[in-house]
Amino acid sequence: MNKTELILAINKIKKEKNAVIMAHYYQMGDIQDIADVVGDSLALAQKAAITNANIIVLCGVHFMGETAKILSPTKKVLIPDLNAGCSLADSCPADQFEALINAHPDYTVISYVNTTAAVKALTDVVVTSTNARKIVDSFPKDAKIIFGPDRNLGNYINSVTGRSMLLWDGACHVHEKFSVEKLIKLKSEHPESLVLAHPECIRPILLISDFIGSTHALLNYATLSEKKSFLVATESGILHEMQKHNPDKKFIPVPPNDSTCACNECNFMRLNTLEKLYKCLLNETPEILVDEKIRMKAVKPIWRMLEMS
Ligand code: 13P
Ligand code: SF4
Repeated sequence: MNKTELILAINKIKKEKNAVIMAHYYQMGDIQDIADVVGDSLALAQKAAITNANIIVLCGVHFMGETAKILSPTKKVLIPDLNAGCSLADSCPADQFEALINAHPDYTVISYVNTTAAVKALTDVVVTSTNARKIVDSFPKDAKIIFGPDRNLGNYINSVTGRSMLLWDGACHVHEKFSVEKLIKLKSEHPESLVLAHPECIRPILLISDFIGSTHALLNYATLSEKKSFLVATESGILHEMQKHNPDKKFIPVPPNDSTCACNECNFMRLNTLEKLYKCLLNETPEILVDEKIRMKAVKPIWRMLEMS
């Protein structure tokens, strides 16, 4: 099938099966364009919790599908490619995280949504990059907090809230590799540009940024700004939506340090394709399943986050 036929077929099956397609901003443009909902991790969780659809096709990575399944256990949750994982979630195995928690029994456990269901089941409250600061700030200044798994986000939240949370030493392979040198060069070539960065980036990138926020916050900031040019330090999929909302503005991706490529892409996010989306809707597989005992524990900190957001 060519692209037009694929789009027609996806829309037809979606209607017949009462399915909803949800896509993260890091998906390739074709998938964002066909999705019913395009959003950041928080928006996808919020929409998954209230959808009337029988089937949720989560075009994103595995933990996003798990979060949808945890919140909507009676729905069938599909993902176009089951291998779409997350290096950040992988950097925090549940048994090792549990050992850290057991060694600090009087600590509150705050986990980034980029974690497995098993890690969420060990957690007091989940956060996303949109609400992490607000939720951390809702705890007393002297509260003892374990924050996992992203050390860059954790360091950033510590710096803006004046905390010294105990951090898990994890990171995202995409956000760790933005090149400071290439960003400085781009800034000198485009002095009129503002630098927008996701808080998963390393500290030197954040220090030279004009605005730091979640994917949705970056999109919003660029849309509301009077400036016309932006250097963007997060996965380059977000540029699709930025450009779509702001056809008169210029968005330049900040390159990674390990290649000549101009864009920094998440290889996991990019596993999903229109063709796989079509097959997944047609065959209702691969499906995301979560062990019920884990789900019952993991749902509490996610709902706590949604109530606090
Ligand atoms: P958002 O919370 O901005 O959606 O970020 C998700 C993510 O995976 C960042 O790498
Ligand atoms: Fe995970 Fe990083 Fe990909 Fe986001 S960009 S899904 S944190 S590997």
